[in-house]
Amino acid sequence: MNKFSIRSDFNHSGNKKCAGCGKIFKFSDIQWDGKDIEYNSDTLWIDSFCSKQCVLILKKRAEYETRLANIDNILWKSGVPEIYLRCSFENFRPETQNHLRAVDFLKAITLPLKKSILLFGPCGTGKTHLAVATMRKLLINDPNSNPLFISAPRLIGEIRAGTVGESEFTEEEVIAKYTTNRFLVIDDIGVEKPSAFVAQCWYRIVDTRTANGLPTMFTSNLGREEITEQMGPRVASRLFGCTTIPIDGTDKRGQRL
Ligand SMILES: Nc1ncnc2c1ncn2[C@@H]1O[C@H](COP(=O)(O)OP(=O)(O)O)[C@@H](O)[C@H]1O
Ligand SMILES: [Mg+2]
Ligand SMILES: [Zn+2]
Repeated sequence: MNKFSIRSDFNHSGNKKCAGCGKIFKFSDIQWDGKDIEYNSDTLWIDSFCSKQCVLILKKRAEYETRLANIDNILWKSGVPEIYLRCSFENFRPETQNHLRAVDFLKAITLPLKKSILLFGPCGTGKTHLAVATMRKLLINDPNSNPLFISAPRLIGEIRAGTVGESEFTEEEVIAKYTTNRFLVIDDIGVEKPSAFVAQCWYRIVDTRTANGLPTMFTSNLGREEITEQMGPRVASRLFGCTTIPIDGTDKRGQRL
């Protein structure tokens, strides 16, 4: 730890600001016994000359910043693809009324969600961006929100690998992973080739999550009829029981962040 001279720590106009509460001290305000203290952060200074409360504020702020800095890492571990890791509401530029409505709604969600959410609309209009921004926001508000992100074809692939014994996980383990976490984004639902197996997978995931009171966020380029065709009427009816959010605007692929 460095030893600072308390007197020289006051700026040229003789002031020092408490990093906790922002109160401005004049050198003449402080009760200084002439002995210097050792500190490598403002914590000890504040504790000595302002208040314990300010030290707590400072610690909380530092924890929050560490968590923020760690969020990209958590998102990556949660399955978010590299190119979407930086997506947030802050760097989403709304260009339509639907964008504005979507941002307002998604920013405000808290867990547990009452209803699942479907973001649907054409390619490149920001659906995946908004889904990742929602995960980020949930993580900022609640470190235990345990979100997972998976694309629909990958999820089907993982279940299939479990079924045919090509994975270190059994089919049941894969299903359990995606039906017990608190928030799940299934990206690009409907792009996988339809089959009885695929319909069964969706039914199991969506139905188990619904039964467990766990929300799912879907994104899709398909309209309602196409989704019904792809996923079967049972899943589609579950899906359209959720909050459906239309996303529109221009195609922004190729203009990645
Ligand atoms: N309104 C927006 N503001 C900022 N970036 C955007 C916006 N819409 C899309 N993007 C960016 O454009 C790219 C394509 O968007 P994406 O979310 O993948 O679209 P979709 O999932 O609807 O096909 C992404 O890199 C995304 O971050
Ligand atoms: Mg997408
Ligand atoms: Zn203070």
